[in-house]
Amino acid sequence: MDTIPLTIDGKKITCPAGTSILDAADHHGIKIPRLCHHPDLKPFGACRMCLVEDKKTGRLMASCVTPAARDMDLQTASPRIVKHRRNIVRLMIAEHPESCIVCSKGNRCQLRQVAANLGIGETDLYHMPNFKPLEQANPFIIRDLSKCILCGKCIRADHELVVVGAIDYNRRGFASRPATTHELGLEQSSCTFCGTCVSLCPTGALSIKNTRFVGSPAAESDSICGFCGVGCNLAMGAADGHIIEVNPAHLPHSVNGATLCVRGHFAHDFLNSADRLVAPLLRKSNADNEKSLIPASWEEALELVSSRLTDIKHENGPQSIAFLGSSKCSNEENYLFQKMARLFIGTNNVDNGGYIFGQAMLKVFDDKTAGGYRVNRLADLARAEVILILGADPNHSVPVVSYYLKKAAQQGIPLIVVDPRRTELTNFAGRWLPINPRTDLELLNGMAARLHEKEAYDSEFIDRYTEGFSLFRYGLSSLDMDQVSRITGLAKDSIQATADLLKGKKIAIVIGHGILQQKNAMHTLGAVLNLSLMTGSLGSTGGGIYVLAKENNQAGAMDMGASPDLLPGRQSLGDDMARKKWEKNWKTNLSPDAGLNMVRMIEAAEAGSLKALYIMGENPLRALPQGDRVQKALQKLDILVVQDIINSETAKIADVVLPGAAISEKQGSVTNLEGRIQSFEPVVEPPGKAKADWEILDQLMARLGGGKPYGSIAKIRAEIRQLVPRYASLNGSSQAWLELTSDKALFSSKGADELISFYPVVSTEDQSADPAYPFTAIVGTQRYQLGSGTRTGASERIRAYASAAKIEMGPRDAADLAVGNGDSVTVSSQHGSVTRAIQIEPGLSPGRIFVPTGANNNEAMNLFGLSDLTVPDAAGWKTCAVKIEKTEK
Ligand code: SF4
Ligand code: SF4
Ligand code: SF4
Ligand code: FES
Repeated sequence: MDTIPLTIDGKKITCPAGTSILDAADHHGIKIPRLCHHPDLKPFGACRMCLVEDKKTGRLMASCVTPAARDMDLQTASPRIVKHRRNIVRLMIAEHPESCIVCSKGNRCQLRQVAANLGIGETDLYHMPNFKPLEQANPFIIRDLSKCILCGKCIRADHELVVVGAIDYNRRGFASRPATTHELGLEQSSCTFCGTCVSLCPTGALSIKNTRFVGSPAAESDSICGFCGVGCNLAMGAADGHIIEVNPAHLPHSVNGATLCVRGHFAHDFLNSADRLVAPLLRKSNADNEKSLIPASWEEALELVSSRLTDIKHENGPQSIAFLGSSKCSNEENYLFQKMARLFIGTNNVDNGGYIFGQAMLKVFDDKTAGGYRVNRLADLARAEVILILGADPNHSVPVVSYYLKKAAQQGIPLIVVDPRRTELTNFAGRWLPINPRTDLELLNGMAARLHEKEAYDSEFIDRYTEGFSLFRYGLSSLDMDQVSRITGLAKDSIQATADLLKGKKIAIVIGHGILQQKNAMHTLGAVLNLSLMTGSLGSTGGGIYVLAKENNQAGAMDMGASPDLLPGRQSLGDDMARKKWEKNWKTNLSPDAGLNMVRMIEAAEAGSLKALYIMGENPLRALPQGDRVQKALQKLDILVVQDIINSETAKIADVVLPGAAISEKQGSVTNLEGRIQSFEPVVEPPGKAKADWEILDQLMARLGGGKPYGSIAKIRAEIRQLVPRYASLNGSSQAWLELTSDKALFSSKGADELISFYPVVSTEDQSADPAYPFTAIVGTQRYQLGSGTRTGASERIRAYASAAKIEMGPRDAADLAVGNGDSVTVSSQHGSVTRAIQIEPGLSPGRIFVPTGANNNEAMNLFGLSDLTVPDAAGWKTCAVKIEKTEK
């Protein structure tokens, strides 16, 4: 690329051809004022603050939209420029309401800063403020467009960064303002309340609605979002020890750039909720002999837990104790948690809540590729040749991933969406396949067969990295495409045309919980891997497999061995070599037998064989199917210990409650869905007597025989670094990556001689249709809630806007059932029922309904059986057969 020499303010610099003058100046530390420019947005040239003067021609130019030219000699603050800037700002202020003292933007207002730098106080022009009514009907964003300076950042953020299109310019001249269609409130538009426009607005025209606190944050520190697996970087603003405002952090190369979603931006107000646990609680009898949870000291609580666990271990053996950890807790905490179970109690009964999100099924990928599929940067989606999205609705589950996908589509990368529902992403897709629920396996096999028939596979990749292709081909050759079409409900032509779109391309395959939580997940993941291998996509830049993690440390919890059959580093307990290594590390004996998973723990409590359960950061009463059954089982335990930040349904029935700290209140690290390891520091102190979870575990382990506590995160990290080679880069830096030991490790870290084997071609037609339950209910996330909704449900703003969610139904079914929008229906499966209002959605085919999870106390899980995800061919927790009746008034 050509390099151009030029001079700015007497300083000789160079920049690549095509660079704007503003960027060239920034790069060399020359500061030019700006109001409408943002590095992540296309230059717009609206505010004229960035004017520079060409000394040779006397021409004034907006530096953000003017490319640098060879031998330019520019001035950024000549008297002419300063005069122009002052006049522009004077005009802006003449139009601005005089409410700076009470404006929530406070000293962060860029208009005020620019005015102050130019020495402008009160305007000397005729004051004619452009009053607009305050818009604040929603609980998230206040729009005070009287303060709008028409910089267009909000509109560009909405169009370019989050690709929603909720707002645009409306009217002209003095009356011009950013507005929704027909100038309706944001809550009546397609706005997702991601808040990205609010973070970028330079004035107080857009601000965060804060119901509890007033004023602006006294300090701002970086942290990580505690919700989904994207792991967005946050700038958390605090005042008086409380988080009062959240914005995207300004870190280079962060996963989210200048964006967030509604949860990250607004749902962190749960941190200040009255539901926070602030002191250890012990269940004790009062004077009337009624038992209730009473505050206690840490000393008393930890002593009780350690003595009870020790006694139960001696009386009933170590297998009578289980540990259910959390995919929301940090890597360091999960490491300690499983170490406590294995080393100090002697059991492999350890799991984490990621299980509910199909974690168990991911073992197919892990076994085959030794984790090689996991290091896929979301930014590389922009370099994919085609993107195939299976069973995922990232607009709701992991919104920042949807921004990447929508931008890829805008760039012209073909998007193929396979989903029984018309999701928002289908509007961006070149092709939508409205597949029958739970039949993705057949479609993947069918597309592989078509590619095979057309000899459209990557022989070089297959020869070099894989084994078992002959057997795989044999399996494909016996597939009956008419049968594939019948099972999937997709026309044969459509399946073949979709496969033809994949021909010769490296595919990015994005899979969500529609795959991970469905029946036959294991086989379907096998078919995903097969397609990725035969097309040579695995490990290619932009190609490969992207698994959408719903919880922020779903990946890390599994990496740290919080799993009944995996040791840290995802090494199998059944692998003698691996187990012996850990026995040597920890100077102990480990059983090679897998322990109880989350569901089996509940079943064992029900059967009376499990006597003690220690739950850290999970709420099984709300998250699991058959909550009543779960409650009865847990109440049979001799002791239930719950360590959490929220006084959850499960904490309320515990014998001991230990108050933990949220991510913004402690030190640690989490691993996102790309394999990015992000460390964080506390922004505020935990409330009351609450402690960081790692500190609680550290002190408890010392009492259980661990000797001297670690005493610091640094010491825990040092042990992880030494014993888990993929975490060698875990050193407290805010951005590190899982280590790959060689190029080959991208495909298999098992060693150069070990090849990745194709998964057998399996066909599993669903024979279980029951005429008594003629509809299929699909459950899934809506953007306001995450998982079971324990934390999002404790957010005041989310509660105000989305504590209830409707059941979505297609127009034909609604007509057949004689129900309309807002009518109440009862949906029943063989396990339980849900009663809610309905909303008619034209994108739903007859026979299918959608039931959002998280909202309505997560009672959507009533439709499933607890044991439906514990065996590979069980029905799963994603779809089930239901009947629907109109609820009588
Ligand atoms: S609302 Fe804010 S971001 Fe949008 S145009 Fe006005 S000043 Fe700019
Ligand atoms: S909150 Fe997000 S979706 Fe809504 S207008 Fe702003 S940028 Fe667009
Ligand atoms: S996309 Fe996920 S990590 Fe990012 S702000 Fe939203 S919930 Fe948080
Ligand atoms: S920053 Fe260049 S015109 Fe606004």
